[in-house]
Amino acid sequence: MMRKEKLLEINNLEVSFLTDFGKVNAVRGISFNVSTGETLGIVGESGCGKSVTALSILKLLEPSSAEIEGKIAYNQMNITNFTDSEMEKIRGAEISMVFQDPMSSLNPTMKIGHQLFDTLIKHEKSSRKEAKKTVLKMLESVGINDVETVFNKYPHELSGGMQQRIMIGIALICKPKLLIADEPTTSLDVTIQAQLLSLMKDLKNKLNTSIILITHDLGVVANMADRILVMYAGKIVESGTVEDIFYHPKHPYTVALLGAIPRMDLGFNQKLLEIKGYPPDLIDMKPGCAFAKRCMYSMVICDEAEPLVFECGDEHFVSCWLQHEYSPKIEKYNS
Ligand SMILES: Nc1ncnc2c1ncn2[C@@H]1O[C@H](COP(=O)(O)OP(=O)(O)OP(=O)(O)O)[C@@H](O)[C@H]1O
Ligand SMILES: [Mg+2]
Repeated sequence: MMRKEKLLEINNLEVSFLTDFGKVNAVRGISFNVSTGETLGIVGESGCGKSVTALSILKLLEPSSAEIEGKIAYNQMNITNFTDSEMEKIRGAEISMVFQDPMSSLNPTMKIGHQLFDTLIKHEKSSRKEAKKTVLKMLESVGINDVETVFNKYPHELSGGMQQRIMIGIALICKPKLLIADEPTTSLDVTIQAQLLSLMKDLKNKLNTSIILITHDLGVVANMADRILVMYAGKIVESGTVEDIFYHPKHPYTVALLGAIPRMDLGFNQKLLEIKGYPPDLIDMKPGCAFAKRCMYSMVICDEAEPLVFECGDEHFVSCWLQHEYSPKIEKYNS
């Protein structure tokens, strides 16, 4: 098999924020890769560090409050210490992002058409006439009908769903090598959502674009992703192919997130599992597994030591003491 080329390599990324209440450890040492042409899904409950991870890749966190450690390499280039002007060359043309909150990232003072236009002119040497054509085509392809009108509108004149489509248009217009999409379709109706997801799929097929897809919607990752990272309290607790995660989840948190997987011993009429309790406070994290308090299989070791990472398959890794050879065997996690 051909070796997959790694486009993005994140090594031991740690991100913390200095706040009035203390240091918030939002991302606590995560490592992962994205290969060329691969779609990587990132899932996890609210507050687990998905957006912070995405924003650190593009260095969009406020340097005065965010402390970032670890190594980020893009296309074999160590971009960890890139300055803002060095990052400018990468943002948009190489790596682009669809933000969770479109209004905060569209420029409120600039008409939609000009925002797309600007992005395009900045990175590509096309004539203005050609650029306008490309912009209108892009607006069409993200499901906007009256493109000439929308071209001349300001962001606040458009609905949330429209804004989100524009964001996706801006992110795609320079044909980036890596697209980071943070909840790209959350506020959209199902039809438009499907349309935009298929647009992203097209781009991936045509240009071999890599995608990091952050979402709460497990249906979306199941459809789009090749591989999935499951995050909990700033860490990756499990990673694997879509098949590994959906059919052979090994972390009790993943299982809880997926809802119930049928248990032979319970027969029919089983209730869906729900995740009781809340994620831990990310200030003053205790040692041990962050999920232990909510885990029905929690052991003494879980409160005392950070679980090791166990390899359960070629691309399947899980950080849970249940995988240790001396742990009690629980059929659904050890089979
Ligand atoms: N600028 C900031 N200052 C302080 N804390 C922050 C800041 N940005 C994020 N955090 C904290 O970091 C943690 C991770 O936040 P993040 O936005 O990455 O979560 P998320 O997984 O994207 O959640 P959601 O699914 O709700 O979008 C949260 O506890 C959040 O409160
Ligand atoms: Mg988020």
